[in-house]
Amino acid sequence: MAGKPEGGVLQRPAILILGGTAEAAALAKRLAPLPLRVITSLAGRTRDPAPLDGEVRSGGFGGAEGLARYIEAENITLLVDATHPFATRISPNAAKAAELTARPIIRLERPAWEKTEGDLWHEVASLEEAALTIPPNARVLLALGRQHIAAFATRPDAHFVARMIDPPETPLDLALYELVLAKPGKSSDEEAFLRERRITHIVCRNSGGAASYAKLQAARRLQIPVILIARPQQVFANAAGNVEAVLEFVRSNLG
Ligand SMILES: NC(=O)c1ccc[n+]([C@@H]2O[C@H](COP(=O)([O-])OP(=O)(O)OC[C@H]3O[C@@H](n4cnc5c(N)ncnc54)[C@H](OP(=O)(O)O)[C@@H]3O)[C@@H](O)[C@H]2O)c1
Repeated sequence: MAGKPEGGVLQRPAILILGGTAEAAALAKRLAPLPLRVITSLAGRTRDPAPLDGEVRSGGFGGAEGLARYIEAENITLLVDATHPFATRISPNAAKAAELTARPIIRLERPAWEKTEGDLWHEVASLEEAALTIPPNARVLLALGRQHIAAFATRPDAHFVARMIDPPETPLDLALYELVLAKPGKSSDEEAFLRERRITHIVCRNSGGAASYAKLQAARRLQIPVILIARPQQVFANAAGNVEAVLEFVRSNLG
């Protein structure tokens, strides 16, 4: 994995991981021991991000052109777009920047959750459709970040239990709600939580991954309907569903 000689010194190839996900962190961990420069880029929204292997930079680039300038300035060899499935601006920017700079790029995206026997899922395309789908007077667990809550202001008849990790800066725009600051728990804890709060419906996004799947398992056992917001449709030239496939892409592109 030798890079271009610069002033007689052989430069290590540099991999830019657009991160903010568990998959991006796992990839940085696998790449860091290799003879590479590994940089993870974060948007800078999380107050106290977990430590990552390799270098970390934070904040927006200023669109696709800004990202292209960063790629040239840092002599990035290859990009991995490992951002969240619902982050819809950065991925097209990354694809465009890779095209502008003629660098290889691969998308790393965790597989979506698949409906299984016993699931009472109602799949919808948007937050607004989710709000419309809630039946009258339901007690709804909103397992969503604070930036996604406003769509549910149209349902003053529903009692919401809004569960999020970071506290909202302002009160939520909901008529009737309880706020619970917590990370998703294991399946038995989720079951107890759903019972205690007398939840009749869950609204969440199809994020995929293990960390937040327990609530769906608990919902299946308790036969609670889940209003599941589908992922936005995005098309990628190269895509991988796991870290191993990205490592293979890196090996084949860097030699
Ligand atoms: N959306 C979610 O539900 C969600 C959940 C968990 C984690 N995340 C992570 O949080 C970040 C922001 O999510 P979002 O939905 O706000 O994204 P977004 O709508 O796709 O991106 C908005 C803007 O934020 C900047 N940005 C996003 N990801 C970046 C990154 N990894 N490094 C540097 N700049 C980045 C870019 O600014 P410029 O145009 O100025 O470059 C981008 O145009 C993403 O990295 C994502 O992986 C998102």
